[in-house]
Amino acid sequence: MKYLKNLLGWVDERFPLIETWEFHLSKYYAPKNFNFWYFFGSLALLVLVIQIVSGIFLTMSYKPDALIAFASVEYIMRDVQSGWLIRYIHSTGASMFFIVVYLHMFRGMIYGSYRKPRELLWIIGVVIYLALMAEAFMGYLLPWGQMSFWGAQVIVNLFSSVPFVGNELSVLIRGDFVISDATLNRFFALHVIAIPLLLAGIVFVHLVALHAVGSNNPDGIEIKKNKDANGIPLDGIPFFPFIVVKDIVAVVLFLIVFCAIVFFAPDMGGYFIEANNFVPANPMQTPAHIAPVWYFTPYYAILRAVPPMFGSQFPGVIAMGVAAIAVVFLPWLDRGPVKSIRYRGPIYKAFMASFVVSFIGLGYLGLMPVTPTYTLISQVLSVVYFAFFILMPWYTKIDKCKPEPDRLTFK
Ligand code: HEM
Repeated sequence: MKYLKNLLGWVDERFPLIETWEFHLSKYYAPKNFNFWYFFGSLALLVLVIQIVSGIFLTMSYKPDALIAFASVEYIMRDVQSGWLIRYIHSTGASMFFIVVYLHMFRGMIYGSYRKPRELLWIIGVVIYLALMAEAFMGYLLPWGQMSFWGAQVIVNLFSSVPFVGNELSVLIRGDFVISDATLNRFFALHVIAIPLLLAGIVFVHLVALHAVGSNNPDGIEIKKNKDANGIPLDGIPFFPFIVVKDIVAVVLFLIVFCAIVFFAPDMGGYFIEANNFVPANPMQTPAHIAPVWYFTPYYAILRAVPPMFGSQFPGVIAMGVAAIAVVFLPWLDRGPVKSIRYRGPIYKAFMASFVVSFIGLGYLGLMPVTPTYTLISQVLSVVYFAFFILMPWYTKIDKCKPEPDRLTFK
């Protein structure tokens, strides 16, 4: 113990170890009334680590070469020691990442965590979300199955609809005129090193931004407004050990679900890994039905809902892009006098409910083949989705909110 203390002292004289520990953990005061919605940030962090570690092990046996990529994945599944486990951890991790991040973002929405002073924290979050989508999209090409190939083909082709520079842009992304070995190589480079580096960097900045302003909470009121004589928030508790202990419970529950999927339903009935992706990529044979993985399907449904204009798909592409980044505008669209849904009025709640229905509905429709009825429903839901954002300045202002309490509430 004495030696450990001496070592710590030695390091601390040369590096702000204790100061950092105190600032971010033992003296970081988090609101006392965190509920289960506050688990998802730590869980996102956990999944990020799971993905990086399992990814490193996959890279040891994977070959980014169009001729042998599919076979190298089969080799991992059949011959590499516990290779199947590592692969399924990584493929399950991808979907779980999105589940966790969608819930994390939704928490931010219902408790108004994007509002002042957390606008920048929110914007950084949206950048993380976009990076995560790029990461997942590029990773999905790597097994070089039918869905990898044709999914990438459909999505990269969308870039060709951009006026004037479309063709050049799509060739730049592919490195070729079609999805090919060159595409596989660059997607591999981006998936394995560039985007993970970026992700790790922005997640770090996300946490620095969070600790600068402090956490919001289910009441949406600032705990920094009520401090004791020592400047400690009256409604705050140290992050370490109290919130850490709560988070450990969440981690255990999460890992139980995670393992259940990995061991008993790794493809999740085709939602986590599509059946067609167990078939090697064949550029000569287009699958009858091409759909992205579930986490992209709300936007894919919006893309398909917008009819082409002058033979160009560009309007749909714009609608899809705007839908994906719309949340970034929330801090400036929300004019409500309160932050948390707890004190909002019925109009806001109705709009929020319709937003959830539209997002899930579009997600479902994006997985389905195109039929006139589905297209019509997608169009209606797309209007509902955008109405949530466009009408927000109006309905948040006229809504009848309840007064916020001065101090945090507990049930
Ligand atoms: C890899 C992805 C991400 C990781 C690892 C991550 C991590 C975290 C952590 C650990 C926290 C504190 C714990 C918590 O409040 O749950 C947090 C808070 C927050 N995150 Fe993220 N986050 C990620 C993505 C996002 C995204 C995509 C957004 C929004 C678009 C976002 C917005 C926020 C906001 C607004 C807060 C503060 C919430 C509050 O205090 O009420 N994060 N994040």
